[in-house]
This record gives sequence, structure tokens and C-alpha cells, in this order.
Amino acid sequence: MRGLRDRGVLITGGTSGIGHATARRFLDEGARVFVCGLEGVQETLDEFDGVGGARCDVSDESSVERMLAAAGEFLGGVDILINNAGIAHREPFLDIATDRWDAVLAVNLRGMFLVAQRVAASMRSAGTRGAIVNMASTNALGGEAGYAHYNASKAGVLLLTKTMAVELGPYGIRVNALCPGYIRTPLNAAIEAESGDPDYVAAYEREHIPLGRAGHPDEVAAAYAFLASDDASFVNGAELVIDGGQLAIM
Ligand SMILES: NC(=O)c1ccc[n+]([C@@H]2O[C@H](COP(=O)([O-])OP(=O)(O)OC[C@H]3O[C@@H](n4cnc5c(N)ncnc54)[C@H](O)[C@@H]3O)[C@@H](O)[C@H]2O)c1
Repeated sequence: MRGLRDRGVLITGGTSGIGHATARRFLDEGARVFVCGLEGVQETLDEFDGVGGARCDVSDESSVERMLAAAGEFLGGVDILINNAGIAHREPFLDIATDRWDAVLAVNLRGMFLVAQRVAASMRSAGTRGAIVNMASTNALGGEAGYAHYNASKAGVLLLTKTMAVELGPYGIRVNALCPGYIRTPLNAAIEAESGDPDYVAAYEREHIPLGRAGHPDEVAAAYAFLASDDASFVNGAELVIDGGQLAIM
């Protein structure tokens, strides 16, 4: 991809699954990378040479501010924000406890806002013509049963993204969203284990995904790299679906 070499990239949720694959992808592109996550930071730093990192809870304002200070110092300014941290639970709408609703919205929507607003403010004051990619989901575009809180949070991310694109475009800051479908990561492994159904993933792949398989984190990392790169220099306020054709089914 063009324009990624030596850029400073902050990846939230960069310690597992899609974010971890994205750290590897940006390193392969010659970027400088800083990751944060709720857990697994030291393991990620041990695995990747030259990466910076900090433990952070993106839903907590002071934790975000400490993490951003460390990221800014390590990278010398954030050029690219991969706003990726998120959680998911699968439970019927009628069973969702209020604190579970709050927890999902706090990480997936408030967390995304807290990090994006602060990074965008420093891009604007530094005059950085940066790129922000927010993680939404196919669940932002259709109401999958069992995920009311998750669906609502990701739909919120989509309109947050579009509004940011409109307001930040005049500063040369591009903001886009990714909408992956079913990707094999620890997040989905936990949902699969909770389902108690040994055929859960195979049935999902058979019934919902025209390509007949789940996606790989590297396939989402490639989309992150594209949207952050100069190859996407006129892409702003868009959502890129990476779902093996799932949303194309009538
Ligand atoms: N796996 C999928 O099928 C899929 C599909 C669409 C969208 N997504 C989204 O992609 C993103 C990454 O998901 P994944 O599947 O790689 O999950 P994962 O569980 O493997 O990784 C999640 C990452 O987010 C971090 N995280 C969780 N809560 C956090 C918090 N409060 N503060 C900071 N970091 C926190 C974790 O430490 C981890 O690094 C999420 O936003 C998820 O909603 C995943």
C-alpha cells in the first residue's frame, strides 16, 4: 500500500484477533506501531520487535488519556488511528441486563468516541492529514438476533464515523469504517464455546456465508491498511464490508 511507511499507527485492541493481525500488517508495511488493549499487551510487545504499547480501558477517560500520552511519546504523533477495540455478547434481547447493555455500549461506542475525539484533536492541532478507521460490523447494517446491544453499538459507530468524516474532512483527516462479517478470532471462539453447539461455526458458514467459510483476521487487516493508505486518498465517510457475501443474501 502507498503512504504507510514510517507513519505512526495507533491500534486499539491491538493485542488479539483482528487488531493483532493489523499490527503485523502495518509493521510489514514499514509503519511504526503502538498497540493498546485490556490484556495481552506484554505478550504482543514480546512478539513484535519495535512495537510500543500500553494497557488501557478505552471506556475510561483517564485510562485513554494516559494511553494516548504514551502513544504520542512513542510515535511522535499519531498519523493513523485504527479504532478497533470492542466486545460482544450473544443473548436474547429480552434477557439483556441493564449493566450488560451499558458495558457493551461503553466499550464499543463511548470508547470509540473517547479515543477518536482526542486523536482527531491532536491531528488537527498538528496539521496532520491523518486517517481514522473505526471498527463497525455487518451487525451495524442488519439486526442479527442475539446481539441487540452489539448491533446498536456498531450502528452507532457507523453514524459516528460519517459525522466525523463530514466535520474532519475540511482538515484533511479521512474517517472510514469497516464492516466485517464472521471472522475467526478469540471473540468468536468465546461465543462459539458459550453456544455449546459443536456445529456452531460450520452451520454458520454453511447457512450464512456464500463463500462457505469464516473470514481470517489478515483479511480484515488488509482492509484496514487500504483505508489508512494513500491508495484510499479520496475515500471518506465510507463503510467497507468484508463478509464473504453474507449481506448480499436476500
Ligand atoms: N470477530 C468478528 O467476527 C468481528 C466482526 C465484526 C467486527 N468485529 C469487531 O472487531 C474488533 C476486534 O474484534 P476481535 O474479534 O479481534 O476480538 P478479540 O476479542 O480477539 O480482540 C478484542 C481486542 O479489544 C481489546 N479490548 C476489549 N475491551 C477493551 C477495553 N475496554 N479497552 C481496551 N481494549 C479492549 C482486547 O484487549 C483485544 O485486544 C471489535 O470491535 C469487534 O466488535 C469483529
